[in-house]
Amino acid sequence: MNAASSDKLVMALPKGRILKEVMPLLHAAGIVPEPEFADENSRKLRFATSQPDIELIRVRSFDVATFVAFGAAQLGVAGNDVLMEFDFPEIYAPLDLDIGHCRLSVAEPVELSVGDDPKRWSHVRVATKYPHVTQEYFAARGVQAECIKLNGAMELAPTLGLCRRIVDLVSTGATLKANGLVEVEVIAQVTSRLVVNRAALKTRPLQVGGWLEKFRAAVDQAAATKKKVAV
Ligand code: PRP
Repeated sequence: MNAASSDKLVMALPKGRILKEVMPLLHAAGIVPEPEFADENSRKLRFATSQPDIELIRVRSFDVATFVAFGAAQLGVAGNDVLMEFDFPEIYAPLDLDIGHCRLSVAEPVELSVGDDPKRWSHVRVATKYPHVTQEYFAARGVQAECIKLNGAMELAPTLGLCRRIVDLVSTGATLKANGLVEVEVIAQVTSRLVVNRAALKTRPLQVGGWLEKFRAAVDQAAATKKKVAV
């Protein structure tokens, strides 16, 4: 029997830097993964936890949304960048986890940015992982966006002449700076959200809703601790 048809819930978590930020919330919600989960060299993809009804999978951030939308995972953590790009109606994203803060921005080489006003563009060509969001964003002000889809290392595109501009996530800005690029426009602010499969919430409201409430309490607790430290 697979996990989706048993009593177990599958929670999809994104690999990489968000995972580190998710862990304290996971622990506060009472979910402790089996030790192998912390081993980045492990080839295992599916992990048991201290909670008999929760199993974790570790996948690429874009794939979290796909697993949850198709009901292969009932819960997940996904950035609103990914949610906007797919716009899956099957995903409900009720809880902002207040982690993974960054922004989706347009960037271009420093030399090009001098005197360049994005408001005057009528056409733009960008390399991006987010063609849907980019096209919609520019279309809303009558600008045609031509997107070259890349899956990573977007910052290389202007240097190597693939296109002059990119749309990508910016957190500290260090990657842009290291590649001679500057941010010229912010498309959206991004944070990670707890996402659930709508059908699973309907058919297993106590179990799925129960975990939603535990995560809500964990986020509130983290916010209260942050406030205390700031005072
Ligand atoms: C993201 C993003 C940028 C970088 C920005 O990539 O695509 O390359 O982080 O962060 P910074 O502003 O702090 O430098 P990530 O490292 O998540 O990997 P990816 O290229 O596989 O998306």
